[in-house]
Amino acid sequence: MKQTTLRAVVALGAIAALLPVAQPVSSGRVASLVRQLTLDEKLSFLHGIGDPRSLGQSGYLPGVPRLGIPEVRMADGAAGIRVSATATALPAPVMLASTFDQTLAKRHGAVIGRDGRALKMDVLLGPTVGVIRQPYGGRNFESYSEDPLVSANTVAGHVQGVQSQGMIATVKHYAENNQEANRDGIDVTVGEQALHEIELPGFKAAVDAGAGSVMCAYNQVNGEPACGNSTLLRTILKEQWGFRGWVMSDWDATHSTDSLVKGLDMEMPEGVFLADKLKAAVLNGAVPMSAVDAAVTRILTQFDGFGLLDGKPRPTRDRAGAARVAQRVAEQGAVLLKNRANTLPLRGDGSIAVIGPTAKTPKVSGGGSGKGNPDHANAPVDTIRARAGGRTVTYAPGGDLFGTPIPASAVNPPLNSADDGTVTVPGQYYAGALTAPVDGDYRISIGATAPDQLVQLIVDDRNVIAGAYGLGDGELPTHLTKGPHKIVVIPITGPHKVRLGLVTPAETRQLIRSAAAAAKRATTAVVFVYDDESEGLDRPSLSLATYQDELVSEVAKANPRTVVVLNTGSSVAMPWLGQVKSVLDMYYPGQQGGEATAALLFGDAAPGGRLTQTFPLSEKQTPVAGDPRRYPGVGKRVDYGEGIEVGYRWYDAHGVKPLFPFGFGLTYTSFAYGGLAVVPDGRGGADAWLTVRNTGSRTGDAVPQVYLGPSPRVTEPQAVRSLAGYQKVTLRPGELRRLRIHLDAARFRYWDTTSHSWAVGAGVRDIFAGPSSADLPLHGRLNVR
Ligand code: BGC
Repeated sequence: MKQTTLRAVVALGAIAALLPVAQPVSSGRVASLVRQLTLDEKLSFLHGIGDPRSLGQSGYLPGVPRLGIPEVRMADGAAGIRVSATATALPAPVMLASTFDQTLAKRHGAVIGRDGRALKMDVLLGPTVGVIRQPYGGRNFESYSEDPLVSANTVAGHVQGVQSQGMIATVKHYAENNQEANRDGIDVTVGEQALHEIELPGFKAAVDAGAGSVMCAYNQVNGEPACGNSTLLRTILKEQWGFRGWVMSDWDATHSTDSLVKGLDMEMPEGVFLADKLKAAVLNGAVPMSAVDAAVTRILTQFDGFGLLDGKPRPTRDRAGAARVAQRVAEQGAVLLKNRANTLPLRGDGSIAVIGPTAKTPKVSGGGSGKGNPDHANAPVDTIRARAGGRTVTYAPGGDLFGTPIPASAVNPPLNSADDGTVTVPGQYYAGALTAPVDGDYRISIGATAPDQLVQLIVDDRNVIAGAYGLGDGELPTHLTKGPHKIVVIPITGPHKVRLGLVTPAETRQLIRSAAAAAKRATTAVVFVYDDESEGLDRPSLSLATYQDELVSEVAKANPRTVVVLNTGSSVAMPWLGQVKSVLDMYYPGQQGGEATAALLFGDAAPGGRLTQTFPLSEKQTPVAGDPRRYPGVGKRVDYGEGIEVGYRWYDAHGVKPLFPFGFGLTYTSFAYGGLAVVPDGRGGADAWLTVRNTGSRTGDAVPQVYLGPSPRVTEPQAVRSLAGYQKVTLRPGELRRLRIHLDAARFRYWDTTSHSWAVGAGVRDIFAGPSSADLPLHGRLNVR
């Protein structure tokens, strides 16, 4: 035996001595199955393998047919099941959370669960519940909120919805996977108070809602890989929270065989550590068989509970019902950020100029594993036209998403394009020179021609990867000086035929000029702008990609009645905000985005959403601004030095005014708030009673929010205000409603770092209520004991 192996075995033996952890309680059936399984069969549950009959999903377990344990398929699906077949594309999770409506979260989850089961999937690799800690995160669109209560309520509803259809939900990525930059190498240093008060409540809520599985994250947390972190996996998840399901690793996020004894139960997608290496460790006694049995028991207990061992029948899809849910969530999650002179809803009979590439090519979802394969999606320009009746609706692209094929003459050696505009890369890669005819801003794009293809484009020192895994087309906006520039095209996987596109500065100027001219001729201009958030990378800045700020500004100069529709995943900078009348945030609205957008613009529906994250005034004024140690990290470490000051908690603590505050969103009507009374509920919590009246002339949704001030007796850091309860209510014009908003006892607790447990924040505490975190006209007090 080599010395290194010996050391590893000794280390494993030391850890094995920690056993046993709280062992799962198994049914007699599962216990009997575990007794009958051979070691190899047991190990087949502890890691995935490639699916011999893949349906395009992400994970697979073969099962043990001789004992009637079926194969199990696991699919991603943040906003719709992601397999080869098409499925319902729902609004992005951030838009779902913006509904502030747990019932809709259940319905969103139920659509995914039903589609998933119908498409032969058993386990959903979602939802994503980590908090939105900073505005750049590539997966912010796939997450819910910067606030733990909104995250917790949304995830609980979603998990219940998914699992109501017999699909096992996997809450992810446990924990502190709040950035994509260096996601698999970064070590997050976070204090226990911030861990428990900010990041973990969402996971805890998912566990309490019965989530069958938890996916541990790529990153490390306080020096230990998340998937081998016994504090997170054993102590908190399994012991303190009593989680009865299983922990699976994120894809290739397992780092050692001893992860099994640290709380990991299943390595995905394949078994590097929990297959042969684990077998050897079991056979030589370094890992006890009881640890293997415990993991298998956890997994089979969930399979049993969900009827997988009984071959539970699968439902058929309900496309029409699913489309209704998708549209409802898009309308209820849409956030109206600005609406001067009641420009929206559009009325009268004037003409409309619809502008922007995503008005024509709908922006359905963000990128990465959260991107599905939609049944269909109508273009907003078509849905607007269909609804506009006799009005004139014109369309101007304003920009070109992909560009025209690079002319062969522009690159040397030449890359001849075929009739369909594609080029074939000879050999392993193409390296050449691209000649820019003039100085200016260019956009160079690359796209795949086959579903499994991954392609890379490098121009000078910048690069982009596009194609498979939901990445879609890649775009390099770049300033080129006149003359030759290095260009490299690499087909990483799949065929060598790729699409290459180019938009020159002259083309961009022309597109903007035509859009402004179309806007000038119309009564109202509606400009669609977008960004491309995706798993795998963070956004480099909060600005809209490339030409779009200029486009909005030029359109607004040409037409004072300009409405902007955002197809963006998170907060964006809006240098043109003062120039436009209205801004409607449609996020990534799913397949019914076109219908929902038209319904909202014309007032058939009213925007019901509120921001679940603060929009900063500038990049210099965010909780992570100016300190690379906080973001994106220095070396391999990122320091969550802000503690509990995440999102509005930071803005409030530092008196920084945001562009739009947390909880904010306008409607097509107005509301008045009054009569706050706070009454203890006798169980450590309280009820906040308040009155909301619709003072406008249209039906609309109010989301009164109740915030809690600090306890005078606590020395740990506390938020100036933290959200303690909210309720969404639809009111007709003139209607008045007295509401009871429950503030759970948990809201009055804080994490005590001395006792390492929750403690009551006693004493007289302020209670504030109103329509957003920055507009709280009502004030009360509560003596907390
Ligand atoms: C992502 C997970 C996803 C998995 C399988 C990983 O790269 O981080 O969220 O479930 O891939 O597709």
